[in-house]
Amino acid sequence: EKGGYDAFMLKEIAEQPRAVADTLLGRIGADGRLHLDEMHITDEQLREIDKIIIIACGTSYHAGMIAKYAIEHWAGVPCEVEFASEFRYRDPILTKSTLVIAISQSGESMDTLMAVRHAREQKARVLCICNVNGSTMPRECDGVLYTHAGPEVGVAATKTFLTQLVAVYLIALYIAQVRGTKWGDEVFAMVQLLGSMPEKVEKVLETMEPVRELARSLADEKSVLFLGRHVGFPVALEGALKLKELAYMHAEGFAAGELKHGPIALIEDGLPVIVVVPPRARDVLHDKIVSNIQEIRARGARTIVIAEEGDDSVAPYADTLIEVPAVPTLLQPLVTTIPLQVFSCELATAKGHDVDQPRNLAKSVTVE
Ligand code: F6R
Repeated sequence: EKGGYDAFMLKEIAEQPRAVADTLLGRIGADGRLHLDEMHITDEQLREIDKIIIIACGTSYHAGMIAKYAIEHWAGVPCEVEFASEFRYRDPILTKSTLVIAISQSGESMDTLMAVRHAREQKARVLCICNVNGSTMPRECDGVLYTHAGPEVGVAATKTFLTQLVAVYLIALYIAQVRGTKWGDEVFAMVQLLGSMPEKVEKVLETMEPVRELARSLADEKSVLFLGRHVGFPVALEGALKLKELAYMHAEGFAAGELKHGPIALIEDGLPVIVVVPPRARDVLHDKIVSNIQEIRARGARTIVIAEEGDDSVAPYADTLIEVPAVPTLLQPLVTTIPLQVFSCELATAKGHDVDQPRNLAKSVTVE
């Protein structure tokens, strides 16, 4: 049932182009407009929303962080993201015009479920993004947008994460479409571009051999750091989480701009640092991260740089350069996440670990 792969995780990483395509299927009309009726929210209700709160755990939380950038940019609605386990135990301010979006691959995470119940008690409208039909969360929410990743057996979330990203882009663009924000043309163009993402994802998968080699060469390291800015920051956090859970290795993700406020003290000779670089078109953001790379390299870090293909301004500072297809900044996580999945999977395998069943972890965490 692993379809010729040594592990479910490898199979599920390989299935991502299909998973992304399936999650888009039937949601983009021939006229280029989005149709998300399954969310059970009227245009009028969407226009009345004045705040969005996203709740999730683990990898799904990283999808939530990326959702915040997309929703605030395209839809122009203030958006907060919070760990479900934290949201539940403070006193969040929710009103009828607050939209809560729970993100959970399994639909069963107890932390997220408790947060959903709490939000519903406060009369907020609650939607969820979920991959498992008939699971608990969709039944308890006002509406659901299903991801169509297919069953994910490996404990580490891979294809469900990519499809959660597709779902959050769809929701952000849909809200923008309904509310008619100033980004009308961009929204239309983004919907078109989303349609081309399965090919781009496929292209990344075809170029992963050097990443596997790199991973094997780093199997004896004590620690790996991950840096990013903007949506590259949650991608860095996701890269670090995968390495922790699969390779049992110390890993941390940072917002690159925060480096100088403390973490830069961790940099020492030979420390591997993986940096997610935004597209060149985002010049200010891009240049800032190039100087972050120079700073850490000057202090001895071994720089492993994930950048858009043909980005020569970053190449001179990269000990290892991993190229991904050029896509707009907000969509970049769909391509930059893949090398990080492959990296942690290969490194954990080189250490002799079972990537499908990492120690101490379960596929759905049904206790608080
Ligand atoms: C990471 C991982 C976990 C889950 C988290 C939330 O690879 O699998 O961090 O993302 O437990 O699970 P769901 O999305 O099912 O609520």
